[in-house]
Amino acid sequence: MNLFNNCIKAMTVIVSAFAGQAAFAADGITIDHLGVNNTLVRVDGQDGYLMIPVQDSADDAKIDVLVDGRTAETIYVRLAKSKTDFTVPFDLSPYKGKNVIFNIVTPQGRSSVREAKEDACWKSFELSKKFKIKNTDKYRPAYHHTPLWGWMNDPNGMFYKDGTWHLYYQRNPYGSKWQNMTWGHSTSTDLINWEQQPDAIRPDGLGAIFSGSCVIDHNNTAGMGKDAVIALYTSAATSQIQSLAASNDNGTSFTKYAANPVLTLESEARDPNMFWNQETGEWNMVLAHALDHEMLFFTSPDLKTWTLQSAFGKGEGCQDGVWECPDLFELPVEGSNDKKWVLICNINPGGPFGGSAVQYFIGDWNGKKFTADTDLSGKIPTKWLDFGKDNYALVSWSDAPGNRRTVIGWMSNWQYAADVPTMQFRSANTLPREMGLFRAPDGQIYASCAPAPELEALRGKQIKAVKTAKINSKPKTYALPAENGGICEILVDLDTRKAKTISLEMSNNANEKVILTYNSEAHTLSFDRTQSGIVDFSESFPAVTTAPTFEADGHLSLRIFVDRSSMEVFGNGGRCVMTNLVFPTKPYTSLSISAQGGNARISNLKIYGIHN
Ligand code: FRU
Repeated sequence: MNLFNNCIKAMTVIVSAFAGQAAFAADGITIDHLGVNNTLVRVDGQDGYLMIPVQDSADDAKIDVLVDGRTAETIYVRLAKSKTDFTVPFDLSPYKGKNVIFNIVTPQGRSSVREAKEDACWKSFELSKKFKIKNTDKYRPAYHHTPLWGWMNDPNGMFYKDGTWHLYYQRNPYGSKWQNMTWGHSTSTDLINWEQQPDAIRPDGLGAIFSGSCVIDHNNTAGMGKDAVIALYTSAATSQIQSLAASNDNGTSFTKYAANPVLTLESEARDPNMFWNQETGEWNMVLAHALDHEMLFFTSPDLKTWTLQSAFGKGEGCQDGVWECPDLFELPVEGSNDKKWVLICNINPGGPFGGSAVQYFIGDWNGKKFTADTDLSGKIPTKWLDFGKDNYALVSWSDAPGNRRTVIGWMSNWQYAADVPTMQFRSANTLPREMGLFRAPDGQIYASCAPAPELEALRGKQIKAVKTAKINSKPKTYALPAENGGICEILVDLDTRKAKTISLEMSNNANEKVILTYNSEAHTLSFDRTQSGIVDFSESFPAVTTAPTFEADGHLSLRIFVDRSSMEVFGNGGRCVMTNLVFPTKPYTSLSISAQGGNARISNLKIYGIHN
């Protein structure tokens, strides 16, 4: 299956002159086998793309790209062994007119060169002037951001400038599993439609490009230009160090700071997140001291010199996994004049339902030190932002307009992200969300995460409207749209004051279903995906996740976003959130609502199709 529509087709297959060692190769490509696990692929003087054949289940081959005899870059690719699942483009344009050799070391043990020459990849290397992506994955979301091809994990480095939302992300351009970490880049003017841009920051001699953040240097404190976009990221090789890069073209291309790294520590630390502190007039930065399960706080006048000020987290919150991808920002508390700081500490594993999750702390920040609020017992409580399994590495956009705190997460979980049933791309982002703070009935302050207001523009035809209906144990059933993979938005207000629980079941005629159950006595909402469709690719996938609803009056207003492989449930304006992947073999076409332990009432049920 070749996933790209190569414009240059009908390539003549030629036999290389070195008949003894060489294999078949397409025009412009020479392949020399040097031994059981070493092959040279030459593409001298070419422009365009070398299409590299990938088999998702193969082991990585190490490829040194030699340009005029020097190693220009090293990439790792799961070169096709028994079959080609898809091809990935390697951009030759930076090396146009030069001698380019891919010096390939394949890992698989072969007994002879003859056997090594049988690998499927050698017949499928091709040159292409252009390539176009044609989606081949039925589970590719219709209205969530995904990379056009290849693997994606954390969103990072996001900023808003001149009407454009910039989203960068951890990306493997050469395969659909984690590798070759590069900052991919997509932009949007409406938080719905995303356009993939050229990769922004690529690995170098200091390492792969792990997560980090971007700020706009309005006052040119770094001396890299007024309003330059400055990225601080982790260079990851044997160790993890922090490096800087600047963009003077609004984040399209970055120039790495020649004196990198700007910060080194003696232990694993990553994912720097910086912001300008108006009150202290300096830059602040949080860095995940991953294996020490804490966050470190730094200050800087110029983004290049960083001074350690304090640490938070040792022994606090969930300590089960590594601490990663921090964020720190201030928000008003709804219904009061108070403001509080939110410290985001993504952790993996250790999430409430296994694997990855977004943990946060509420507290105060004085520019140097974070002090977390305690509960009535004097302890610092562990709080979770999303009670589904598939929202990780969530961080916010810097410089978002109107004091918004807009966030987005990686809609997957390290437990099974590499095994989900997609191939051409792996992983989508969550929908963009707006964060807020509210005081819950237990007296404590919690974070809310509501769908970004822009998402209302997704609503297409209204398929159903029910003003109000009594619900009892006999399910009331409503049709969901079947077209376009069943994508829709469902809104409904639940009143369960006279019932114990109310269930919403979304199902298809293959008996696959997701069951949401609101328990108004326990004040919880649960999401059962154990029978949601394809669930057997990982033991950790089938699950029932349960969220506190943070209400005391038996009312829950739901907004449910259904895309081709996900369901995001928001209760009471984002006070209760669950994000879960689902892989139904057919769209869910029916919504059945029933009540248990008494009668309930629904009102304002609205089902919308989604604009194409
Ligand atoms: C989180 C993470 C980060 C790191 C990145 C590497 O998912 O482990 O800590 O920067 O992924 O891709």
